[in-house]
Amino acid sequence: MDNYDSVDFFTDQSLVEDPYPYFDHLRAKCPVQPTPHYGVVAVTGYEEATEIYRDIDTFSSCISVIGPFASFPVPLQGEDISWIIERYRDQLPMNEHMVTMDPPTHTQERALIMRLLTPKRLKENEAFMWRLADRQLNECAGTGRCEFISAYAQPFAMLVVADVLGVPEADHQRFREGFGLSQTPGEVGGEQADYQLNALEWLDDWFATYIAERRRTPRGDVLSQLALSTYPDGSTPEVTAVVRTATFLFAAGQETTARLLAVAVRYLCEYPELQGELRAHRERIPDFIEEVLRIESPVKADFRLARRATTVGGVEVAPGTPVMLLNGAANRDPRRFESPSEFRLDRPNAKDHIAFGRGAHSCPGGPLARAEGRVSIERILDRMRDIRLSEEHHGPPGARHFEYVPTWVLRGLQQLHIEFTPAEATK
Ligand code: HEM
Repeated sequence: MDNYDSVDFFTDQSLVEDPYPYFDHLRAKCPVQPTPHYGVVAVTGYEEATEIYRDIDTFSSCISVIGPFASFPVPLQGEDISWIIERYRDQLPMNEHMVTMDPPTHTQERALIMRLLTPKRLKENEAFMWRLADRQLNECAGTGRCEFISAYAQPFAMLVVADVLGVPEADHQRFREGFGLSQTPGEVGGEQADYQLNALEWLDDWFATYIAERRRTPRGDVLSQLALSTYPDGSTPEVTAVVRTATFLFAAGQETTARLLAVAVRYLCEYPELQGELRAHRERIPDFIEEVLRIESPVKADFRLARRATTVGGVEVAPGTPVMLLNGAANRDPRRFESPSEFRLDRPNAKDHIAFGRGAHSCPGGPLARAEGRVSIERILDRMRDIRLSEEHHGPPGARHFEYVPTWVLRGLQQLHIEFTPAEATK
């Protein structure tokens, strides 16, 4: 492409397929680079992105999900626009979710989640993951071929979050059916905010029923624990605040993890020697997952709003500037990662990636997503041999083609058709 200087990241389909040359172009100009659209400053440098993530005093998260499409009724002008943010933030889409909050509200809301994702709970959840992986693989491993995302990754990621929250297993099928609806947040050129908001409202209704029920009749399960949880100061949150915590876990934890699992399997297919290596050395599976997260970070763009004038990487950022943190670009910054476009299982610093963000908002689901990756890859390697891409769907080696979810929010394969030899058949 020769028009990288004028291309609109938010609408251009060609960037969906492969954003990395564009990211490299931006970084080569400057790791903190103003773009011609919506006043956005794009951050492709690792150090610079990390610095912004950590500076919660200067950068507000109020636009973290919808970026420059947040519209304030007054111009974002003045030395410090904090008062405008505080006055109007409740009019912004997604304002009710912690990912868009700033301290002190964010600190309070996040404490609710951290009470849920305790080491004990995660351990119990991992036991469920092993059972679930087998159950899902029973559905698809016998056939020797499947579309991996719908057959495994999506139901697996969804039911893991359902289990963390304590959604009764009897309701799992209903959740699967509900999520069968296509929900693509942040569609390129589309009505991203409303679309996403509606998807979450759908879940809010379900959880409102659960939480109200548990407040009336606690059952000693996780939902009851969530329903009865209190803020650090001892006060009881509104039902709606609790419901949103639960709902947002679904929204944040599903698509991201499903796309991580899919791209991990794609790498197993593209580098078949990895299959034998990881089967023989299961302890290397976590390194494999970290390198996948680095090279194909599922969250593509995350946003912050500059409250006041500041300088990042030597570049002046004016108050009111929407700053776009491109995690996938930062994770391929050659100043941090040697030969960043190469997939290297033995990369010593793969785990430094910022696929889960950094600082106060860094992903609380990271340990969960990592465990989902580890358990899934281990069981897939147990149950499938000679895993390969379907040439019928993705073309022959050297002329592969893939479709990606048409969004500027996520980086994810639309479908992944694989073929394999069921493990039993090789015994
Ligand atoms: C591969 C999978 C995942 C990726 C790449 C990912 C990525 C991220 C990123 C980059 C953020 C930071 C957003 C920001 O700073 O603006 C974040 C926040 C968050 N993630 Fe994840 N996530 C994943 C899985 C999960 C899972 C499994 C859960 C929970 C079940 C989860 C729950 C959350 C929540 C609640 C937040 C908001 C935290 C806050 O605002 O303090 N995520 N995630």
